[in-house]
Amino acid sequence: MKVAVIGAGTMGSGIAQTCALAGHDVVLLDLEDAALARARGAMASSLERLARKETITAEEAREASARITTQSGLHDLHDAGVVIEAVYESIDVKRTVWTRLAEVTSDGALLATNTSSLSVTEIASFSGRPARFCGMHFFNPVPMMALVEVVRALRSSDETVEQARAFVEGIGKTPIVCEDKPGFIVNRLLVPYINDAVHALSEGVASVEEIDAAMRLGANMPIGPLQLADLVGLDVGLAAGKALFEEFGDPKFRPAPLMKQMVRAGKLGRKSGEGFYDYQGKDGR
Ligand SMILES: NC(=O)c1ccc[n+]([C@@H]2O[C@H](COP(=O)([O-])OP(=O)(O)OC[C@H]3O[C@@H](n4cnc5c(N)ncnc54)[C@H](O)[C@@H]3O)[C@@H](O)[C@H]2O)c1
Repeated sequence: MKVAVIGAGTMGSGIAQTCALAGHDVVLLDLEDAALARARGAMASSLERLARKETITAEEAREASARITTQSGLHDLHDAGVVIEAVYESIDVKRTVWTRLAEVTSDGALLATNTSSLSVTEIASFSGRPARFCGMHFFNPVPMMALVEVVRALRSSDETVEQARAFVEGIGKTPIVCEDKPGFIVNRLLVPYINDAVHALSEGVASVEEIDAAMRLGANMPIGPLQLADLVGLDVGLAAGKALFEEFGDPKFRPAPLMKQMVRAGKLGRKSGEGFYDYQGKDGR
């Protein structure tokens, strides 16, 4: 089966690689030639890493690579049985993309968005085929993360959800079906958890290191919530928190003021070199 992946960024390249490794022919599309070139480089080094660790053979890596083609712009995709969109997290961009995809994909195709925080039901409406539409929420880095949340939108048909679940299983991931509610399952629980750790830090409950150590040692978390915030990116965590707060209107999702201040100061975590920890040398806030 041919899979079309729209958007060749962090997620799109991971999804394309995973589908190709499972034996699907994949066409990966982007508007930017530079993004396609970066994606080809990222997929080549990821496949090489997997082969080096003997997770896959060198032959499997070569075959997967050969199954992926890239295309610049959104042209004829009528031969794609599955279409997965992973463009920027903006409702306007998704509207433009899905309005165009409605014209270039076949009626029978399974349609999916990888959105983390937007309404799948709203994006489905842009496709003109909401019954064939659902969310497929992959996690980063896609080749390593087992879960895909299959999101049932308001007008997704049962057949669509079942096909999506089977497709996800077929590419070696574990599907968990959930309803189209903000944050789905993982972010709905994880975002407030990180946010609460920042509230606790601001209230002087304990230091950064003590809060993280307490959750590692007392709750068996693999890493502490503030380490996790730095890994995810404080800007990404804050945007997710704001989306949950706005959508539910529940004060339990109120973003911690310290989180906002740190984002304003450019302390975004690992990617900026400084967050709750200092990645350029000494620890600090
Ligand atoms: N990064 C994550 O950890 C993560 C995790 C789960 C889900 N998501 C979701 O996946 C989606 C993509 O996120 P990302 O981190 O890969 O973003 P990204 O910025 O790395 O990549 C987005 C890509 O979309 C392309 N694009 C933008 N407009 C386009 C258009 N009109 N047509 C074709 N391509 C277009 C861009 O050129 C870019 O290459 C978002 O909806 C995001 O919420 C991200």
